[in-house]
Amino acid sequence: MTLMRTAKGDSPRAGPPDPAADVTSGRLRRAPENFLTGEQIHLVSKGRREFLRAGFLAAGAATVAAAAVAAPSAVAAGAGDPDILQTTPWGGSLGRPVAANPYGLPSRHERALARRQSPGLTQVAAASVSFTPLQGLFGIITPSGLHFERHHQGWHDIDPARHRFMINGARPELVRTPKVYTLDDLMRLPSVSRMHFIECGANTGMEWGNVAVPTVQYSHGMLSCSEFTGVPLRTLLEDCGADLRAARFVLAEGGDGSSMTRTIPIEPVLSGEVLVAYGQNGEMLRPENGYPLRLVVPGVQGVSWVKWLRRIEVGERPYAAKDEAIHYVDLMPDGQHRQYTSIQECKSVITTPSGGQALLDRGFFSVSGLAWSGRGRITRVDVSFDGGINWTEATLQTPVLSKCLTRFSVPWVWDGRPALLQSRAVDETGYVQPSYGQLRQVRGTRSIYHNNAIQTWQVAENGDVSNVQIL
Ligand code: MTE
Repeated sequence: MTLMRTAKGDSPRAGPPDPAADVTSGRLRRAPENFLTGEQIHLVSKGRREFLRAGFLAAGAATVAAAAVAAPSAVAAGAGDPDILQTTPWGGSLGRPVAANPYGLPSRHERALARRQSPGLTQVAAASVSFTPLQGLFGIITPSGLHFERHHQGWHDIDPARHRFMINGARPELVRTPKVYTLDDLMRLPSVSRMHFIECGANTGMEWGNVAVPTVQYSHGMLSCSEFTGVPLRTLLEDCGADLRAARFVLAEGGDGSSMTRTIPIEPVLSGEVLVAYGQNGEMLRPENGYPLRLVVPGVQGVSWVKWLRRIEVGERPYAAKDEAIHYVDLMPDGQHRQYTSIQECKSVITTPSGGQALLDRGFFSVSGLAWSGRGRITRVDVSFDGGINWTEATLQTPVLSKCLTRFSVPWVWDGRPALLQSRAVDETGYVQPSYGQLRQVRGTRSIYHNNAIQTWQVAENGDVSNVQIL
């Protein structure tokens, strides 16, 4: 039995777990499945923000007293709860046998934790996006079945025995011995396993227009993190006798029907960072994520992580392929397009609590979220409860790895007053995640890609959490 408040925030009701539940925490309410209904789209004007800020200054924001906080006390023992006083059905009967599920699945009680499509974005046949439910995940690794998907032309479950991977040069002198590899060939070679995030360049893209989608799944869910296993591309280029002094770029080509081709600069290839990967979280890649082979380009936007990888060409100049000349460019305020801005700059977001959830009562909460940078490690995350007036340094949970998600948390005692929750990350280059105002000053408002601005979640007096923008 779960005690939860109804959506309208009126009297508490007891009931079975909500099948549409997004979040398993008993103190947080559920996120709506879909969005784009009128009442869920928040357009927050500057005036509104100033009003809220004024309220904070007058009332004094809800602040953290880390030393003084204590977890909410559990119900006193023997308070009449049959689930502690009586033998449960599972405590008094024989369980199911070993290997009843040859491939283990999550509990049926967790089935609402799922990838979701945005009805506003993904109705073009197989060219689609599904978003990772960041609000329901712990730690930094995304379960493979919840990894976001972005396909330009649908996905395939390719027969690995028939998959081929080729390396050649733009000129014969650039690769002395062009080769075609089978998967078996590749899997005989020494491999490495590394944890990295992948973020689509269009993640948080809807927010450029000051439209706030309701949940973190839709605002930031084109983001996932896995342990990838594969062969460094450098090893394969050396195997083919590539001229690594003349090479300046490589072109990566996918085997699907989308003609996905991307230019990758040679530097991360030479450093050994770029992988030709077949493994994800200890098993083979999932078909949706490129099985049996994908390129892993740490820190770089997802589009360069070419799936169903079939060819690498060694070259001397950028290729200006369609997905780098027309798409994945940033329209700047002066009307020019910025091209090849591939690196995902430092960014963070609070995932708990986040839009669509509700705080069920006052008291202690562990506010938690994710931070990442395409330029290296996260060195610091600050959290604000009053829309950026005061900041508290968050704890970074280990491991803190380069070009990987970092989990942060900070204790908070909610006093029942409105709050504006934000997180601001800093990476090892000293780059500080910008506010919307700072980002728009440089980038204007007409971009789709590379929005790394500070996210704000507004907590209302009734505990409802919603997405707002502080300009
Ligand atoms: N590779 C191929 N061959 N075809 C594609 O459609 N989509 C790209 C990239 N690689 C794509 C591709 C885009 S836009 C992104 S964001 C990532 O794959 C998404 O990877 P994922 O689906 O594993 O999350």
